[in-house]
Amino acid sequence: MAELLIGQTLAFHGDPFAMPPEDAARHETSGGVLVEDGVIRAVGPADELRAAHPQAAVTDHGDALILPGFVDAHVHFPQTAMIASWGKRLIDWLNLYTFPEEMRFADPAYASEIAERYLDLTLANGTTTAVSFCTIHPESVEAIFTAAEARGVRLVAGKTCMDRNAPEGLRDTPQSAYDDSKRLLEEWHGRGRLSYAITPRFSPTSTPEQLAAMGALWVEHPDCLMQTHLSEQTDEIAWVRELFPEARDYLDTYEAHGLLGPNALYGHAIHLDPRERDRIAEVGAALIHCPTSNAFIGSGLMPLAKLKAAGHRIGLATDTGGGSSFSMLRTMAAAYEIGQLSRTALHPAQLLWLATAGSAEALRMGDRIGRLAPGIEADLVVLDLASTPAIAQRAARAGDIWEAVFPTIMMGDDRAVREVRVAGNKV
Ligand code: GUN
Ligand code: ZN
Repeated sequence: MAELLIGQTLAFHGDPFAMPPEDAARHETSGGVLVEDGVIRAVGPADELRAAHPQAAVTDHGDALILPGFVDAHVHFPQTAMIASWGKRLIDWLNLYTFPEEMRFADPAYASEIAERYLDLTLANGTTTAVSFCTIHPESVEAIFTAAEARGVRLVAGKTCMDRNAPEGLRDTPQSAYDDSKRLLEEWHGRGRLSYAITPRFSPTSTPEQLAAMGALWVEHPDCLMQTHLSEQTDEIAWVRELFPEARDYLDTYEAHGLLGPNALYGHAIHLDPRERDRIAEVGAALIHCPTSNAFIGSGLMPLAKLKAAGHRIGLATDTGGGSSFSMLRTMAAAYEIGQLSRTALHPAQLLWLATAGSAEALRMGDRIGRLAPGIEADLVVLDLASTPAIAQRAARAGDIWEAVFPTIMMGDDRAVREVRVAGNKV
């Protein structure tokens, strides 16, 4: 049966980086989203939809804001339990905190416990799609896909491949990485709402042979996304230069092994050379901005507005647990703060677009998720724009929807998430 959700609505029909931001979305003070069979059927003024669909059950959210569920384009679900680990920059942080934790995912029971916990936390924060790294263990991939399938969420994940510069017990080989990835891909890719991403962790932890094996797998399955990390920290870039003396730059370590293409997702991508920037734009690969992580691990300022202006496709992500949050609200706030440090104030429309349609387009899933529009899957978040006294008193002064939503972007957390829908179903 059809259901009509009523509240304020913001429906993006364009990219707010490519036009005056406020023109990219249509706001309804009393809007409606008609949902049937897990899909959005209509979006518009509540009165019109009520009149046109008198049989639909009505759920009235008052002046709460109905948005597409957030799309978190780069996370590490296995890092859930070690988020907010103190005091280290990237390489030491990996060795001291991350690798020991990832070692535990050889145990399928632990892997599923954390997979469930991750999805609990992320859904509570209004995120309905995540793109996750797993660990080298196939069990970790089984765990997150099994948990996601049971909840009906659209999720992308892949076995993280590493065959060097990682501890004993956390290394695979070029052949086993290829075989395991292929088997998992064939089992899970395209099953219900799940997709497989080919996932070499980053060049420092893969031999050229392993990168080539991943490239070969991608050639066999070009519709899969390929996710990795690129140019996150300057020490990391210097290390890549030592490890790959023949490469022109960091991107070339991927490019030379078949790991550059339109379905690539490069996390961080902060310190890019002009050749790397141009080549990525030319190919149409996506960059994933991880602002809380880039501040937390001390990586630097990604010049997001400049990259958007140069035509790059960009998604937004928490990078849990290098990022310090599970919340895409907090992540939008960090994107705003990092923008300010680069002298660009991102408009609330741009922040909300990055967290929804922008990330969905980065995943090449813009025709399925990330917008309020007919035919798009009914993954929704309903935000209370006055969820705490501090937010409420500021929002009370707002002159328009952008001023009304900005305090929640900057100060909101899971208390602002009034309701979450996954394929139309209440979480
Ligand atoms: N680079 C390689 N692995 C990781 C990781 O787990 N987190 C972050 N932030 N960067 C990485
Ligand atoms: Zn990452």
